[in-house]
Amino acid sequence: MDDIKNRIDELIEKINKASYEYYVNDNPSITDQEYDDYYNELLKLEKKYPDLKREDSPTLRVGGQVLDKFEKVTHERPMLSFDDIFNDDEIISFDERIRKTCPDASYTLEPKMDGLSGSLLYKNGILVRAATRGDGVVGENITHNVKTIKSVPLRLNKPIDIEVRGEIYMSKKSFEKCNEERKKSGENLFANPRNAAAGSVRQLDSSVAAKRGLDFMAYFLPNPERYGIRTQSESIDFLRELGFVTNHKLNGLAKNTNEIISYINDLAKKREGLPFEIDGVVLKVNNLKDEEKLGFTQRVPRWGIAYKFPAEEVLTTLKEIKFTVGRTGKITPNAIFDPVHVAGSVVSKATLHNEDYCLDKDVRVGDVISIRKAGDVIPEVVEVKKERRTGKETPFKMIEKCPMCGSKLVKEDANYFCKNNSCPARKIEGLIHFASRDTMNIDGLGERIIEDFYNMGFIKDISDIYLLKNHKEDLMELEGFGEKSINNLLSSIERSKSNSLEKVLFALGIRHVGKKTAKVLAKRYKNIDNLIKASEEELTNINDIGAIIAKSVKEYLSNEENLSLINELKNIGLNFEYVDTGFDDKLEGMTFVLTGTLQKYKREELTKILEDKGAKVTSSVTKKTTGVIVGDKPGSKYDKALKLGINIYKEEDIENIIN
Ligand code: IVH
Repeated sequence: MDDIKNRIDELIEKINKASYEYYVNDNPSITDQEYDDYYNELLKLEKKYPDLKREDSPTLRVGGQVLDKFEKVTHERPMLSFDDIFNDDEIISFDERIRKTCPDASYTLEPKMDGLSGSLLYKNGILVRAATRGDGVVGENITHNVKTIKSVPLRLNKPIDIEVRGEIYMSKKSFEKCNEERKKSGENLFANPRNAAAGSVRQLDSSVAAKRGLDFMAYFLPNPERYGIRTQSESIDFLRELGFVTNHKLNGLAKNTNEIISYINDLAKKREGLPFEIDGVVLKVNNLKDEEKLGFTQRVPRWGIAYKFPAEEVLTTLKEIKFTVGRTGKITPNAIFDPVHVAGSVVSKATLHNEDYCLDKDVRVGDVISIRKAGDVIPEVVEVKKERRTGKETPFKMIEKCPMCGSKLVKEDANYFCKNNSCPARKIEGLIHFASRDTMNIDGLGERIIEDFYNMGFIKDISDIYLLKNHKEDLMELEGFGEKSINNLLSSIERSKSNSLEKVLFALGIRHVGKKTAKVLAKRYKNIDNLIKASEEELTNINDIGAIIAKSVKEYLSNEENLSLINELKNIGLNFEYVDTGFDDKLEGMTFVLTGTLQKYKREELTKILEDKGAKVTSSVTKKTTGVIVGDKPGSKYDKALKLGINIYKEEDIENIIN
């Protein structure tokens, strides 16, 4: 028996050494055939002598363990992430801020891996638990899946207790392979490697994750001092000694902002050729003493930051211009193009706004166009590549009839409208708006469900939403619905009845009444009856309410059909009174940008003060910016604000803004 145990130990040693050479040192030491022979011999022995199977056996990587649910895991230290920055200016302000506390700071620079972060816990050198980040405090136990990742050591080179953090990701190669297989079997394709990795670790059956070819890149030790480590770069060396794959070859060090910027430019050039996706550069103060001095804000560490690469532009072909109808009847042309991978996801559609926009850009079906993600979220058509035209492209032509109901469209200013109040597209869009987050916030009543319920006849009008409870039995029969989801939906519908007046005012879809106007009206009139009584003139006299809004509100609230809808909703039990939460949102709807070094406030402090009052603080100046708050040595944002004629505020103006 001892002989067999010894042979098992020997085989595991050989296999682990080979994996280490292959994954960590990038330098295979045995052939694939030799590896397979050792592996198969081990498998055989373990099968024959199950009692001798070791808890760190490499054969565990094939998976097979199936959970019935994910267990929650509370992180010993919260798993935070860094704030994001997007340009040189922000790198300079970050460095200035660091140098106020740590004048001699230097930084480690690391590729920002585009996957999901994971925490691995080792006891006595053996992997005992792996968890997702979750909300930073509580994550999910994904040990069964992480054990299948070949670049995760199941046993470390030292028998120590340690937590290691890093990125679980899918290489570009595994991603291609995974999607090819999904295509063959008719499954939905993953939009990008990040989603594929996240989807794979959230599988209850670990043999699924095992087949996906995930990887792990170690980059952080939450308790480095326990191992006598003094710098972030020593952490990386230590991780390598323990047996982890790190990015040591790509990581860099910088003493100043010039070096940081040149590292970023170099890495951007290498990006495409890397075997995995990265979306930026992570900057960390190298010396752990400095790290300690800098500490944390309420949300994020002060000692590091994540620089994100600018939005990519990619080329594709315009296949079709599809017109959609909004809830107000507004017709929007949309570009439908060959799906392309932009900034981390696959997109195939972007708005073309209106007729003028299409004519200005001269978009033609068949054109090669370039797509970018504005603010990295919403795709937009940047440019038409006219030099690539073949002559077969079809010039843009505005439609004359509603694509849904066929009514003749009416032009108002730059836009065309379908004026048919019973147009199904308008009705559906109106219902979607009514239930959405900023309005009645009915959880579980999203676009698809509303569309389905409308087409099946369960919801034709707003009031039908509140009568859904009478169809509970029928709804439970529908595919994809169970008693639990229907109960949840019905209770969020019931909950929405007690929303404050501004929510329902916005939800009704009165033209020109957005979130902010609804709030102004609700605060002022307290209930719907007072608002119904208000004259157009009185409404016009309110600050923030112009003649157009006043006219539209008056028109809506004088229309018999609308009044009877309001009455019906009242009878159903909807609240039409203003509920004062005492929340101060004086700056709601405003956007500020901070630039330069401020004396009295720390950037984070001021950001929080402004955000607590409802304002947004963003990093780039656009036409929509309310004001730019300027400290010493302001950067290019100041010049841009001047160019665009945006309000410039000095530090001494801040109290005025707030109050
Ligand atoms: S260090 C306190 N290093 O990007 C944060 N994170 O905000 C410690 N990431 O969510 C993380 N590559 O998942 C670190 N080399 C790297 C990273 C990295 C990617 C992710 C991480 C985190 C976000 C940073």
